[in-house]
Amino acid sequence: MKQIICLEPGKFERREVNEPLKSSGNVVLKVNRIGICGTDLHAFEGTQPFFTYPRVLGHELACEIAEPLNENSKFKAGHPVTFIPYFPCNSCIACRNGRPNCCTNIQGAGVHIDGGMTEYIQVPEHALIDGEGLTSDELAMVEPMAIGAHAVRITEIRKDEYVLITGAGPIGLGVMAFAKINGARVIAMDVNNERLEFARKYFGVDFTVNALENAKETISRITGGEMVTAVIDATGNKRAIEGALEFLAHGGRITMVGIQRENFSFNHPEFHKRETTLRSSRNATREDFDHVVENIRNGKVNAAALISHRVPFDDLTKVFPTLLNPLTGVIKAIVEL
Ligand SMILES: NC(=O)c1ccc[n+]([C@@H]2O[C@H](COP(=O)([O-])OP(=O)(O)OC[C@H]3O[C@@H](n4cnc5c(N)ncnc54)[C@H](O)[C@@H]3O)[C@@H](O)[C@H]2O)c1
Ligand SMILES: [Zn+2]
Ligand SMILES: [Zn+2]
Repeated sequence: MKQIICLEPGKFERREVNEPLKSSGNVVLKVNRIGICGTDLHAFEGTQPFFTYPRVLGHELACEIAEPLNENSKFKAGHPVTFIPYFPCNSCIACRNGRPNCCTNIQGAGVHIDGGMTEYIQVPEHALIDGEGLTSDELAMVEPMAIGAHAVRITEIRKDEYVLITGAGPIGLGVMAFAKINGARVIAMDVNNERLEFARKYFGVDFTVNALENAKETISRITGGEMVTAVIDATGNKRAIEGALEFLAHGGRITMVGIQRENFSFNHPEFHKRETTLRSSRNATREDFDHVVENIRNGKVNAAALISHRVPFDDLTKVFPTLLNPLTGVIKAIVEL
């Protein structure tokens, strides 16, 4: 079968390898689509922390069952599936407390263990997510959407509250989609007007604000002077993160989905007087994956709208570095097998 492996930073190799031999508890999947994400690019560039090479990248996958677990399995050959691509240890303190998404020893496909830039992959059956009724394009968007759904769930976004979501990339757009599903009044903020327009058109956000144009006054006007009761950051930009507090109402909460490498700081009196709740949001759980699939299936979320670029598997090594450059208008690029 064909496979693309990242041998070292900056170097991909397309190679032929044997198909995986199914081992106990596992199913073999045929990969149909691979979404490309920032993690893949950082791994390729050599800027992803805690990353070892060689590594097969790719964790946003649309698959179908190639070899079922056994003849009694719910999933027969050809059944559409994706899987939760982070494997927790099931014994650490986070796992024991029902937080496998932030397991101390989490193994991410395409990060710590080999991922999906390959024709066939085997995974434990318990990691599967049933993709019945979803197209391959939609299935490949389930994982990035689940990141957003998780952030919305743990922030407990409520009906009619004003929520500011900074960063209208694929992750932020997922946050917006699920904040809308919870009934919030969603304000999208970015520095890229095309992305803001996109958020309005395909993800139904109520208001858009350019971060570079009197953002505080605009948000004050939208919220009748009260500011927003939740900010969810999906920029991974230090300046945006440190600026979140000035848009936040007293009693409000900030959730950081985006990540960056530096320390960040808040003015302590400003943080204190709001009795601010600050938390991060990492990965997603089965509950979030199921919520995403359900809302794609019932037509409430147009996940496939994220896909702006398509690449045949055989061309991937040539075009990969361009696939995350916003100047090309890319939102989400997808590889077709
Ligand atoms: N929580 C998780 O488990 C998880 C999973 C995947 C990705 N992420 C992180 O989520 C973040 C977003 O990922 P993405 O793929 O959507 O990235 P992206 O780069 O496509 O999108 C980020 C957006 O933020 C905007 N932005 C940058 N600086 C800004 C500023 N100062 N003010 C307003 N907008 C600004 C950019 O214009 C861009 O549209 C990244 O930090 C990524 O590492 C987190
Ligand atoms: Zn991803
Ligand atoms: Zn664990």
